[in-house]
Amino acid sequence: MANTATPLFSPEGAAVLANVMKPALQASTLPAEAYWSPAVYEREMERIFRKEWICVGRREDVPNTGDYFTTTLAGEPLIVARDESGEIGAFLNVCRHRGCEVVQGAGNAERFRCPYHGWLYGLNGELKTTPNFAGVENFDKSKHALHAVKAEVWEGFIFVNLDRDAEPFAPRVSEMSRWQFEKYGFGDKEVTHSFSYDIAANWKTYVENGMEEYHTPWVHAETLQPFMPMLGWKELTDVSDQPWTVMIGQFPGISMSPTGKSLLPIPDSFKDIDPQFDGMPIANIFPNFLIVATPDSMSYIMVEPTGPETTRVTIRMCLPKEVAAAFRAGDPEATKIAEAYAETIPPFMAEDNMTAEAQQRGLRSKLASSGRYCKYEQLAWRFVNWVARKAYI
Ligand code: FES
Ligand SMILES: [Fe+2]
Repeated sequence: MANTATPLFSPEGAAVLANVMKPALQASTLPAEAYWSPAVYEREMERIFRKEWICVGRREDVPNTGDYFTTTLAGEPLIVARDESGEIGAFLNVCRHRGCEVVQGAGNAERFRCPYHGWLYGLNGELKTTPNFAGVENFDKSKHALHAVKAEVWEGFIFVNLDRDAEPFAPRVSEMSRWQFEKYGFGDKEVTHSFSYDIAANWKTYVENGMEEYHTPWVHAETLQPFMPMLGWKELTDVSDQPWTVMIGQFPGISMSPTGKSLLPIPDSFKDIDPQFDGMPIANIFPNFLIVATPDSMSYIMVEPTGPETTRVTIRMCLPKEVAAAFRAGDPEATKIAEAYAETIPPFMAEDNMTAEAQQRGLRSKLASSGRYCKYEQLAWRFVNWVARKAYI
């Protein structure tokens, strides 16, 4: 069935979605329209990105009181800051006077001063002073704090949620402990390197790619396939209603170093790990966040939609915090190690980026029809089903 004949939000579109929701090996992929339509994108922003917990960074991005950075989520400008009590909070970066963005970029501040008329806010968002504002009637400063946004730190990751009624984040992923993730110590790692890419593809192409191994022999023939071949992956499909997926590359002792052999000591926690969980777990927390762990390192990917057909992808390499601290201090040995791990990232990311853009161009065909999934793509199927239920029906 040609996509042009089946607008997604129509009775015919409902029939298309019914095919998407069949069991994985009987199901169709999403129609191409889902990857370029502005109406679909709007639905996803409203029903997913304004409702779900979204990772915006790591605890170590704001290590000290007054450290802050700015970001955007579903078009909303945000400030993430650490206050005097050590709490990491998030606020709308919109002045309560007449709406100017209060701060730009990242840095350290004692207070946030709006550049327009000088209103001054505390690190916890409360309004402190309003220059030359005397005489204004019925004005209560305490009611004009920056709008708070829910924020939660989980294993060192900072998640925010624009939905004031959102349930806490941590319980949503608690079941992941079934796969002994605690052995990997996500919270004990710190970022050493970041890479960002602006790609001309819908955000879902990238997320789906991150949870299927079917493409590894073709897209990553020289880079990943030799170390982590497609058939070594186990997709954990025995979860049905969780807002995440897990797959494990069953490659004991695997490393993201250039040789695939660790340049760092393997933590003691791995002495008694169940062998089926030893290797490279990938957790994909819906909608747009992936953690890729090995015994010695961790990287994570934030897939940020910037439009129906554009996406900003950020991947950050994290190493044990002592190594990361030595790297930041300029220690030559730690620098050599950190750079060796980081240099493995750009080659395989370039391969995924190029593929996502080629897929996007193909999905733009007016004659294209929905495709199919195989058993190496069952997590991608779970993800698109989750998206469809949240945003399309
Ligand atoms: S808009 Fe911020 S002080 Fe006027
Ligand atoms: Fe890939």
